[in-house]
Amino acid sequence: MSEVIGVVGAGTMGNGIAQVAARAGYKAILHDVRDEFVERGFAAIDKNLQRDVDKERISADEKQRIVGRIHGTTDLTSLTQATFVIEAVVEDLAVKTEVFKLLDKLTPGDAILASNTSSISITKLGAATSRPEKVIGMHFMNPVPVMKLVEVIRGIATSDETYERVRTLSEKLDKIALDCQDSPGFVSNRVLMPMINEAIFTLYEGVATRESIDGIMKLGMNHPMGPLTLADFIGLDVCLAIMNVLYEGLGDPKYRPCPLLKRYVDAGWLGRKSGRGFYEY
Ligand code: CAA
Repeated sequence: MSEVIGVVGAGTMGNGIAQVAARAGYKAILHDVRDEFVERGFAAIDKNLQRDVDKERISADEKQRIVGRIHGTTDLTSLTQATFVIEAVVEDLAVKTEVFKLLDKLTPGDAILASNTSSISITKLGAATSRPEKVIGMHFMNPVPVMKLVEVIRGIATSDETYERVRTLSEKLDKIALDCQDSPGFVSNRVLMPMINEAIFTLYEGVATRESIDGIMKLGMNHPMGPLTLADFIGLDVCLAIMNVLYEGLGDPKYRPCPLLKRYVDAGWLGRKSGRGFYEY
């Protein structure tokens, strides 16, 4: 089936998803609440595709055709044409629930409603709609055009048919879908975030400098980025939100967020996107 892909949220993840969808030949509808957010999304897509033109992977004409397949909008009713919606708004249960309720009303009854959430319960999002069997988690990794994985999360009511459509789309997007059950943090963040949080504890306790912590993990474990650099890359507010989901959802004190992480978020030091986190940008 040829899907029309709706993407709600034109931030880092949303614009990356719209880009890979359009590059794979799909028509994409990229929504955000303000014109400037949509424009920023298109600017990021343009910059990423220009890199491919410069490296002679695609022609300038092909780049134009890819961008031309993406329709930017601030009007959610544009999503009435979508057969497959991927939500990538802020990582907040109340906001996502509201978006799912609206999408349920607006989109055709057989449209899939997927969330790019990094830790929020798919079962809860499904329960906010009249079609929980068509609600699923499709967790892309940042940077979306580069990272191969889509972590696919099945809510308690997600149907096999929905799962198969997600697998098919993921393959068409040149991604590898790996599935897991709906559990706090799924697999990716259940494993990644405690490592990042522990790295922040080592900094907090003065065990080592930021450079040393990152260097040890980068050179010693062959990670592409050290954990503090990665935290800045992901966003410290996102890291804190995920730690809170793990802490509350699993009820184990080992998931408590490091006080230094909380303090940085309170200060508005959110990492790369705010110009300061564990490093200055
Ligand atoms: N968008 C698109 N492409 C990008 C990019 C971006 N933002 N950043 C880098 N790239 C591309 C480059 O163009 C380059 O492509 P080619 O090799 O094909 O020419 C390639 O990625 C490598 O880039 P660089 O040489 O500039 O830099 P690098 O080798 O340091 O790689 C990186 C950059 C891919 C980001 C790498 O550092 C990396 O893999 N870091 C870890 C990323 C990671 O762990 N992501 C998951 C975060 S967790 C998450 O997303 C989920 C969550 O819920 C929190």
